[in-house]
Amino acid sequence: MSEQKRIPQHIAIIMDGNGRWAEQHGKERYEGHIAGVEPVRTSLRRAAQLGVKYLTLYAFSTENWGRPQPEVDALMELFCKCIVGELPNFLEEGVRFRAIGERSRFPEQVRNNLDRAEKETAHCERITLIVALNYSSRDEITRAVQRIAARVSRGELRPEEITPQTVSSSLDTAGIPDPDLVIRTSGECRLSNFLLWQSSYAELWFPEVLWPDFTARDFDRAVEEYARRDRRFGLVK
Ligand code: IPE
Ligand code: IPE
Ligand code: MG
Repeated sequence: MSEQKRIPQHIAIIMDGNGRWAEQHGKERYEGHIAGVEPVRTSLRRAAQLGVKYLTLYAFSTENWGRPQPEVDALMELFCKCIVGELPNFLEEGVRFRAIGERSRFPEQVRNNLDRAEKETAHCERITLIVALNYSSRDEITRAVQRIAARVSRGELRPEEITPQTVSSSLDTAGIPDPDLVIRTSGECRLSNFLLWQSSYAELWFPEVLWPDFTARDFDRAVEEYARRDRRFGLVK
């Protein structure tokens, strides 16, 4: 296998552990989220350097609305600031930005910033950064089923014509290849409603490091671990 082949085309990260990091440092939870911004930059930079073409980051789940209001507000403010704040970097580094999840529930300013970042980086080709916001797999799959059912009821599609490809192309991730590697920091070994359809054959990696402490070295370790995995896709060698 060539060196190039061992680099995952798509890495997805469940960025977990901000709250525990804050607690360990005697800080408020929102300060953990602020501390989680730098590892986003580091991971994006490292992914691009290694030739990873897609990096997906789980930033806010549909379930996270149930957190204390001050924490939710702080996260909204952070999203608002970061998306536009990082735009010059994205353009300079060739980062195409894309958001997945149901964005109508976000404050207007967040929605506008998401639209703007997607539009202004649409021509960028070095790497695609996908941020999952108000995202959960069950919500995404439910919305996809609604879209498919609407096509059937309009007579555009017969039920027996529905294939796994129909489902894939009706998800928010339409056009994005499935993740090869899913990383979840903070030692939790669960997917928490993240890319359930898309991760059917992804390799999973659960390092103990809390997200704010995640470094380029941790990113490299995950890629090294991926290179050692034997992906069989249900076949025999
Ligand atoms: C992940 O960190 C960030 C979000 C879910 C927004 P957490 O806030 O879940 O951190 P822990 O799990 O409480 O440590
Ligand atoms: C998953 O983390 C969501 C994000 C990282 C954005 P959570 O911390 O919300 O998940 P659970 O509650 O531990 O499953
Ligand atoms: Mg958590």
